[in-house]
Amino acid sequence: MRVAAYEQYGPPGVVAITDRPDPIPREGQVRVRVHAAVVGSSDSAARSGTPWFARLAFGLRAPKQHVLGSEFAGVVDAIGPGVTRFAVGDRAFGATGIGLGAHAEHVVVAESGAVVRLPDEVSMADAAAICDGALTALPFLRDGGHVRPGDRVLVNGASGSVGAAAVQLAKHLGAEVIAVCGPAHAELVRSLGADRVIDRTREDFTQARSEYEVIFDAVGKSTFRRCRRALVAGGSYLTTVPSWSIVFQQLTSKLGSRRAVIMFTGLRKDAEKRPDLEELGALAAAGAFRPPIERMLPLEQIAAAHRIVDAGHKGGSAVIIPVPIETGPTDAASVTDTVRATRDAASDATPEAAS
Ligand SMILES: NC(=O)c1ccc[n+]([C@@H]2O[C@H](COP(=O)([O-])OP(=O)(O)OC[C@H]3O[C@@H](n4cnc5c(N)ncnc54)[C@H](OP(=O)(O)O)[C@@H]3O)[C@@H](O)[C@H]2O)c1
Repeated sequence: MRVAAYEQYGPPGVVAITDRPDPIPREGQVRVRVHAAVVGSSDSAARSGTPWFARLAFGLRAPKQHVLGSEFAGVVDAIGPGVTRFAVGDRAFGATGIGLGAHAEHVVVAESGAVVRLPDEVSMADAAAICDGALTALPFLRDGGHVRPGDRVLVNGASGSVGAAAVQLAKHLGAEVIAVCGPAHAELVRSLGADRVIDRTREDFTQARSEYEVIFDAVGKSTFRRCRRALVAGGSYLTTVPSWSIVFQQLTSKLGSRRAVIMFTGLRKDAEKRPDLEELGALAAAGAFRPPIERMLPLEQIAAAHRIVDAGHKGGSAVIIPVPIETGPTDAASVTDTVRATRDAASDATPEAAS
């Protein structure tokens, strides 16, 4: 099989296509032919070896694992002895977590892992993208922010993969959603259901006073200190990006009236992720959730996908297609065009504002 592999930390060009033997699933494992996989922020960190603490996880001097990629969707094409939850031919999607290995034509996962059946209504690309943003945003909003109907939830970085999922899921939880993004993504974010969109280049959302029950900084560009007064008493500041200060504030803010919360959703147990995958797949199948996709590229263009992630301004997810199959209303062209068309229209309207 073809895989996208790298041997040393560096820029996107260190990842190259190479051949590996097809993996054989062992006891309790399923092999999935990968039709879509995400290239995301954690792949970029693992590839570049930055920030420095990424190397504690991925290897101090050189990467320990050579094939990146966690979020995938595909078709089961072989099963090991004892497998009962899946059969050959099943559509499946999930996340390999620290096992990585999804930037390949095949990935092998434990059937007890974070993998579930994929409803027929959901495209492979959408399924992989769900695992990118929504599998993070859902636990943040539900378990970290305890979002309830009627809450005012501000999402910073609302056009990224986590933020775009958060906008839709906060609406689904009954919240009023205020989304912060750059001008080029305003239409995209509005189309996801945001009640109000704040252009981050023109308005500083942290200047608000006692306005939000939850501030979810999906891209970790703010701080609890700056956002604190924009929260109502009892409100929560959630951030995806770890720092010493947020870890400290998470402990100490329990004593105050406003909480700071950092979570590491990728490290949750597979048994916790599976019901979330089921729920998100069902939402997507019902047309109630749709992850935006910035670009879909064939496996050979993996370096280009890494460059898109590194640029830091993607709208939704970057998806690679190791084994192509799909056509139809959710195919590459139509989905990609949706994100780019809304952004291009916004850029045309406000050329000075494009970043
Ligand atoms: N803690 C966890 O468990 C966990 C899990 C998953 C991901 N993460 C982390 O979450 C972060 C977000 O991931 P992601 O995949 O959603 O990122 P992403 O898709 O790369 O985010 C891109 C978005 O960031 C926005 N952005 C760039 N600079 C900004 C700024 N200064 N202020 C506000 N928004 C800005 C851009 O919006 P505009 O161009 O529209 O401004 C762009 O749409 C990453 O750092 C990732 O490592 C953490």
